[in-house]
Amino acid sequence: MISKKMEQMLNEQYNKEVYSAHLYLSMCSYFLDRDLDGFANYFKVQAQEELQHAEKQFDYLHEVDAKITMMAIDAPPSEFASIEDCFEQTLAHEKLVTKSIYTLVKQALDEGDFATHTFLQWFVTEQVEEEATVKNLLMKLKMIGDNSSALYLLNDELLKRQLGPAA
Ligand SMILES: [Fe+2]
Ligand SMILES: [Fe+2]
Repeated sequence: MISKKMEQMLNEQYNKEVYSAHLYLSMCSYFLDRDLDGFANYFKVQAQEELQHAEKQFDYLHEVDAKITMMAIDAPPSEFASIEDCFEQTLAHEKLVTKSIYTLVKQALDEGDFATHTFLQWFVTEQVEEEATVKNLLMKLKMIGDNSSALYLLNDELLKRQLGPAA
């Protein structure tokens, strides 16, 4: 069993993961409209990963006999200023999610809830990877600048991204 407070925080985290999926699908659509299929693929896979995160939290809540409560999901932005803007917003969003995970970890430690603490470690590691990947892509976009052939190559590279199994 987990505490009511932890139950509520994990339900909120589930909601944030689903919001993340919607945010990245919104970005996917931005790239589809611009025929940048590689970038669109990158964000579609990113959205699928976020749904895997949500599912992990759903399953954990069920495992510990907690009550699962579906909440309204905020609408993500539907307009983006540029390719770089999408990645900057992604980085800012991932930093918020990292903070949210850290708050959960702290709560688990404060409560002596070592099972939830262990469960959350996967997300701590995942967030390091998520932020690093986005930072790397932002750096590449800055190097590309206005060079459309370089952008085409990056688009091709991003087309290869595939959804891995939910580790
Ligand atoms: Fe996530
Ligand atoms: Fe994420």
